Amino acid sequence: MARVLSCIQPTGSVHLGNYLGALTSWVSGQHRNDVFHGIVDLHALTVTDKPGVIGDQTLQLAAVLFAVGLDPKVATIFVQSHIPAHSQLGWIMECTVSFGELSRMTQFKDKQSKREADFVSAGLFTYPALQAADILLYDAEEVPVGDDQKQHIEITRDIAMRFNHRFGDTFVIPKAVTPPVGARVMDLQDPSSKMSKSTESEAGCVYLLDPAESIMKKFKRAVTDSDNEVVYDREKKPGVSNLLDILSAATGTPQQKLADEYTQYGKLKSDCGEAVVALLHPIQKRYTELVSEPAQLHDMLGIGAQRAELVAKQTLQRAQDAIGMTPKK
Ligand code: TRP
Repeated sequence: MARVLSCIQPTGSVHLGNYLGALTSWVSGQHRNDVFHGIVDLHALTVTDKPGVIGDQTLQLAAVLFAVGLDPKVATIFVQSHIPAHSQLGWIMECTVSFGELSRMTQFKDKQSKREADFVSAGLFTYPALQAADILLYDAEEVPVGDDQKQHIEITRDIAMRFNHRFGDTFVIPKAVTPPVGARVMDLQDPSSKMSKSTESEAGCVYLLDPAESIMKKFKRAVTDSDNEVVYDREKKPGVSNLLDILSAATGTPQQKLADEYTQYGKLKSDCGEAVVALLHPIQKRYTELVSEPAQLHDMLGIGAQRAELVAKQTLQRAQDAIGMTPKK
């Protein structure tokens, strides 16, 4: 079994694209590999400046992860800030990466320019060092990430190799793997771009916890085209094909077969909405149960924290010993 790690930031709400594109494969992956999933609240602090928000978002995301089917006894689900070794190794990583390397991170340049006159924290700049700590602490062999995170895995490898070279073999060198392709869900209002929480219009994004009426409304208003033929062709008919992709993911019926069954956009839209409502209903029910029982939720996170801490502590110790830091006697 490979040790696999991937993490998610507790910012914004989980949407259908996250679920069908990534979380469903996290759920199936938990039985194939030894998986660790961190809810990385320390990473979210790079852009958090209001009190009382991050903790709630962390718990809500944890409830979503358990509600979609991650089992705390099978997968190690933990909150990053519960494991102090992340901050501790994070500093060591900051001292192992260079200013120049961090300056070349496209995500930093991107985020910095988007924040314009806003506060740009130093944490936003050193973020990849903390991410390297997240990965190296767990001796992760594989890190499934999208293209936007490939550069962060590359820099993690560079940091790990540099550390091993300087101080002796300490870290497993991880590699980025392409996650199993889930459905690629596009924005319902703009089917040329991926469904995302940062889109302009809320109408194009279906959130996992949206009430049924609002899901139906979003699907009924989905953008299609004017030729009124249900054909699966992502290039020429992105809107209709997106609906077929979603319906296929929700029902397990291939897109082509579905396309043959429909003659009208209206019916396709409402069936798609109903299928998504039915798909999300049990998840929403479980979510509501979990958030109404915070003690149970904390217990579930406690199981993950215990297991994560055990591994992380040992790796941190190994790194400190390799450097030759003086132990506390
Ligand atoms: N940087 C990742 C993102 O923005 C989140 C993340 C933090 C992560 N630590 C990680 C992903 C470790 C994979 C492994 O999506």
